[in-house]
Order: sequence, then structure tokens, then C-alpha cells
Amino acid sequence: MEIKLTQYSHGSGCGCKVAPSVLEEILKGTGTSFISPNLLVGNETKDDAAVYDVGNGTALISTVDFFTPIVNDAFSYGKIAAANALSDVYAMGGKPFMAIAILGFPVEKLGAEIAQQIIRGAKAICAEAGVSLAGGHTIDSPEPFFGLSVNGFVEIINLKQNSTAQVGDVLYLTKPLGTGVLSTALKRGLLTDEEIKPAVNYMCSLNILGENLGKCGFVHALTDVTGFGLIGHLTEMCEGSEVSAEIEYSMVPLMDGVKELTAKFIYADNTMRNWKSYESKVQGINGESLLTLCDPQTSGGLLIAVDSLKEEELFKITLPPNTTLHRIGKVIAKRETKIFIV
Ligand code: CO
Ligand code: CO
Repeated sequence: MEIKLTQYSHGSGCGCKVAPSVLEEILKGTGTSFISPNLLVGNETKDDAAVYDVGNGTALISTVDFFTPIVNDAFSYGKIAAANALSDVYAMGGKPFMAIAILGFPVEKLGAEIAQQIIRGAKAICAEAGVSLAGGHTIDSPEPFFGLSVNGFVEIINLKQNSTAQVGDVLYLTKPLGTGVLSTALKRGLLTDEEIKPAVNYMCSLNILGENLGKCGFVHALTDVTGFGLIGHLTEMCEGSEVSAEIEYSMVPLMDGVKELTAKFIYADNTMRNWKSYESKVQGINGESLLTLCDPQTSGGLLIAVDSLKEEELFKITLPPNTTLHRIGKVIAKRETKIFIV
């Protein structure tokens, strides 16, 4: 019998994230934690990873990401989960060096070989990134999930945050949107494993560009687009930076097939949860843009705020595979509304 991994997951990829409003509710009741003076980035600005000053101008970056199967092929699932987890280190301008695997697995139902394929996929991506997959922890679980805890280093002068965008900055996105729509269509049998391959290629592609962007002073802010969608991660950037943003919807890149599928109202469950969390902060959205801009991304692209006077510098950087610079909007002065779609 052929095993379809997505049939074992209730929500796929970063689409299984707890809704942002629920997460806020949970964290509200947890009290204060010990804050070391060496902690450069903690939880306050909802950034991609925590950053800790280890001295000599260097900081350690630490992050964890895991989710349920987004594709049926175990090897690809492992690759996607790994590329997605490493991305949060790149999104801080850093370089990942070590990762620890987190695996939940229904051993009785799926057998050891599938788990092996998932880990093989993760190892392949870690090898590509020059990261040691140095250990892990596995539990028997009714629903499979997999991901990595990742450590990276960054020179503190190269550290990039999501909360440092400036009025006048130009916004760039490096991968098209649509992994939530496409994986939902796959799960419902509306797309074949073959048809989802271009999206899988994007999701397996490392956001290694972030490491280079760390060295660029003209990059004012940086994050990656994952489970909360472009709307969510841009809102976090705006709130952290005390600015607003304008998105030119016609310039936002979409993966092939996404327009057609959203026209038939195919979207991930978490799209609406994302929208409910952010709708009071957004103006100008319509049917299609709601379903694409709130679409939960798995291993999505980098969102970059660039000094408008030095934009051409960005195009001198050599781009890694499946990475394109799409100019999607700009940062404007702070208003009540965080995001204007035009
Ligand atoms: Co992130
Ligand atoms: Co993350």
C-alpha cells in the first residue's frame, strides 16, 4: 500500500501553527522570564529567532521549528522541514552551524523506513547548508511531526531584525506565495504529487541569501514569511518598527496554479485564522488577496526592507537557486492601519 503522508496530518506544514491570537493568549498567562543582559533578541518583537551575545562581537542564534507533513513523499518532507527551520537563522543575517532533530512518529502505523526517509531528507539539506545534524529526540505520536532546533552564529554588527524597518524603505520578497493553497489542494486530491513539484522545489530551497544580507548595511530589516502569511509577518515587522506598509498587490508573486485554486475557494484552514488575527490592521484587501496574502507559507521567502537610496546595491548580490527579488511595496509612516493593499 502506498502511504500518503498528508493523510496523517490535520493541517499541513506551517499551516498547523497555533493561530497568532491564540498564541498571544497562551503567552500572556506565563509570567515573566529571567532576562539576561546578554540576550540581544528575545520574544518581545516576535522575531525569527532568539539571539544571545557570547562575547567578542559574536552572537549565538537559536530557533526551533517543526510541523506535520505538507507533502506525501517522506524524503521531500524532511528536506522542507529542514530548509524551513534553517531559514529563521538566515532571517537574522546569521549562519547556521548545528541542528538537532525533533521527530514525532506513529511507528506502528507508518514503520521505521518512512521515518528514515524523513531524516535522510533533513540530512541532505543540512549537508547543503554546511550544518551538522548532530542529534535529536523521537517520540511515538499518533500524528507525525518533524523539524529542527537550529543554532547559528552572527557577527553582532551583521545582526538583522524584523523590528528595524525605516520609513521610505522598499520591501522585497524572495519567493512566490501559495504553499498553503497548493498543499491543501494536494491533500484534497486536486493536485498530483507531480503537479506540486515546483512548489516543493521552492520549499526545499535555502534562504541562504539572508546570510549575505546580514553584511549589507542598506538592509534595514529582515524576516522570513512562514505560517502567519505575508500579512502576518509584515504586520510583525510594522509593529516592531513602529511604521506602516503599502503593498502593491499586482507585484506580489504567486506560485503557478494559486490564482485558479483561490478562485475556486481552495485555501488552507489557517488562512482564515490568520485573517481574523490581523484584519483590524489591514485595509484594501479583497477576495483573492485575502486568500493569498494570509496563506500560511512553509519555508517561504525572505521579506527584506531596503534603504531606497541604495536599492541598486541589492541587485549586485549573487542570488542562490529559486531566489528572486520581487519588489512588492514600501514602508510608510506609522498609522492606525498597519498594511494598506493598493
Ligand atoms: Co521566521
Ligand atoms: Co519559526
